[in-house]
Amino acid sequence: MTHQARGDAPPLHHTGDIDSDTHRHSELEDARVPAHVAIIMDGNGRWARHRGMARLEGHEAGTENIRRISFAAGRLGIKYLTLWAFSSENWRRPKEEVDGILSILSRAIVTETEELHRQGAQLRHIGDLSSLAPELQAGIQGAIERTRNNQHLVLTLAFNYGGRQELVHAIQEIVASGVPHSAIDEDLVQRHLYTSDLPDPDLIIRTSGEYRLSNFLLWQGAYSELFFCPTLWPDFGPDHLEQAIREYAGRERRFGAISPSQSY
Ligand code: IPE
Ligand code: IPE
Ligand code: MG
Repeated sequence: MTHQARGDAPPLHHTGDIDSDTHRHSELEDARVPAHVAIIMDGNGRWARHRGMARLEGHEAGTENIRRISFAAGRLGIKYLTLWAFSSENWRRPKEEVDGILSILSRAIVTETEELHRQGAQLRHIGDLSSLAPELQAGIQGAIERTRNNQHLVLTLAFNYGGRQELVHAIQEIVASGVPHSAIDEDLVQRHLYTSDLPDPDLIIRTSGEYRLSNFLLWQGAYSELFFCPTLWPDFGPDHLEQAIREYAGRERRFGAISPSQSY
């Protein structure tokens, strides 16, 4: 289904003129654009139910929205965009829904990679690939390989990802390496996470009005700013992303220190 058919704005590259896009970007450049934005893409099921559609149609619409938001993120100057599409706990859903999500992703990897490549996105994956079907693993690996030299935006797909599972995986690797316990520090743990070559997320967005992390980026999100919005993921558009960035730009991050505006 197209965005137009759903009654919302057409894809970004068909809207507005160059001047207004340039203006919006430079306005945001003056503010602080987060380098790394991570999104918990929630609400596909409710989006479908509100329209009397099957849940899988919500997942289709949600998957389609990835292209729109990754394009907008690149335009806004975001360097790293991480999108959570399937959690290590989502296997608890009915088999029909899990199979449907897996097949939507398998198809999207094939149909969307060229467009993402054209946009300059470098695709990556975090999560446990090994328990996915071999064809899906190959599709994801192929997309990573195809886009590996792109520099405009690092687009990381969190698929079969869970923060606790990631920490267990890191601990297993560390123990297997035989490193003495006195050599284990935060840097070493960080190097064994799936995100070892990504900066921590500056901003984590969750759509659909839920106020929880649900096991997302537990280590990396220690000092992330959080933005919760009621919009269901398939309806989350470039304007919502821009709103989240504006709110982020107005926040003060302290990382445990006192505010620079308060002096002794
Ligand atoms: C998010 O949408 C996508 C996945 C978790 C796979 P949901 O499927 O969780 O949608 P709701 O929360 O039921 O509306
Ligand atoms: C989190 O959403 C996972 C993704 C969006 C991929 P869920 O819908 O699975 O989270 P809970 O179960 O409501 O906490
Ligand atoms: Mg949900």
